[in-house]
Amino acid sequence: MSFMEPFRIKTVEHLPNPTREERLKLLHESGYNPFQVKDKYVTFDLWTDSGTAAMSHHQWAAMLETSEGCISPDSFDTFADTINRLTGFPHILPVHQGRAAEHILFSVLAEPGSTVFSNTMYITGRANAELNGAVVVDVPSQQVEGGDFNGDLDCVRLQEELRRVDVGKSMVVMTLTSNNQAGQPVSMANIKHVSEICKTHDVSLFMDGCRFAENAYFIKTRTKVYRDVSARDIALEMFSHFDGMYMSAKKDGLCNIGGFFATRLSDVYGQFKRRMTYTEGNPSYGGLSSRDLEAVAVGLWEGTDDRYLKYRIEILAMFGDILKKAGVPIVEPVGSAIYINAARCLPHIPTEQYPAWALHCALYIEGGIRCSHVHDVLKVDSTNKREDPQPQHFIRLSIPRRTYTLSHLIHIGDIFKNVLEKRGSISGFCIKNSSGHYFSAVMEPVRKCFVG
Ligand code: F0G
Repeated sequence: MSFMEPFRIKTVEHLPNPTREERLKLLHESGYNPFQVKDKYVTFDLWTDSGTAAMSHHQWAAMLETSEGCISPDSFDTFADTINRLTGFPHILPVHQGRAAEHILFSVLAEPGSTVFSNTMYITGRANAELNGAVVVDVPSQQVEGGDFNGDLDCVRLQEELRRVDVGKSMVVMTLTSNNQAGQPVSMANIKHVSEICKTHDVSLFMDGCRFAENAYFIKTRTKVYRDVSARDIALEMFSHFDGMYMSAKKDGLCNIGGFFATRLSDVYGQFKRRMTYTEGNPSYGGLSSRDLEAVAVGLWEGTDDRYLKYRIEILAMFGDILKKAGVPIVEPVGSAIYINAARCLPHIPTEQYPAWALHCALYIEGGIRCSHVHDVLKVDSTNKREDPQPQHFIRLSIPRRTYTLSHLIHIGDIFKNVLEKRGSISGFCIKNSSGHYFSAVMEPVRKCFVG
């Protein structure tokens, strides 16, 4: 076997290990809502890959070596130099996380009458564009069963749409990898095509690049001509087709906080720079401490290293294989996270009884696993009926970077196997109190004993 984690472990965090009885009690007390269970009672937290990476000794060392409280910190130079080397963009501004960059960028570029097109826009990006009066239109490509680049944007539709809107007020944002398309990557050919269309229509093109390094590595492994090109060089080529980007460094930046905006458009840079002082801080720190800037600089460099990315992409694929062997229906090929069709796992639970919710609760009881829901959200009207009568039932398993080992993932595969073996005993759920958001929803199993 050629796979191995390319690091050794220096600091250990003990896994929380409540008993099954304790988990049953905790889940009951939390209104059968795993999002309400305290982190200290969750053994495997696969809710997000954002801000959850294990940092390296180089990151911690750089954080200690810098000093705080300067108006013009050296750490900003390290930060900006690293981002400039990785992206080629000349203008760089720090922010505290991805949505802060979205908030400022759309307050600069979006207005009533604007349309923002995307392969799929992340929820916070959508919300920030809409806050400024823009309409967000997703134009994802048709999903091809087993396709290598199911995160692509539909260029034919984009061209049609651009003919119908005020192009002077419109823009395109490509999300790499595409979180809302099961974490699937975008191809270089698609990036080039979208860029040509944007140039023809004189529309700016930005990247939501929080998983750009993983996208670059997917291009390396799934496109013949890029086999021998490094992920960093592929990324540079990707960026050359964009006017700018924003990034939450909490993902591929291997950091617990941080982000940035980078661009070649000096007017947008100037406006962003002016706006950010009202909400984030000076352009030399943007809501971050010097130590955070250092952690991002080192994290970005490590997160774009081919040896690290090989491990990252391989462990995701191997986890997919482990789950498939356990009989779990996953979206293939695996992208930046694992997506599971919960309705196919629990075919006896009807749509109106939230099969993804039921699977999530069963996984917590069986093995202390927390995941996130993608489509099975609790949108109800006053009659307690679903807004969407035909919802999908996907669950996302995000793998925090450099955090869980392969043996953890094998163990999680066993938990899935146990859950599926007793699937008939798992009950559906109804809403006791939705309170408008699934984070705080109170649920109730339809049957008294909800899992065997
Ligand atoms: N864009 C994408 C594609 C994201 O996935 C996220 C966050 C953001 C922007 C916002 O970045 O959290 O730093 O403000 N995604 C997390 C997730 C929360 O779990 O997928 P942020």
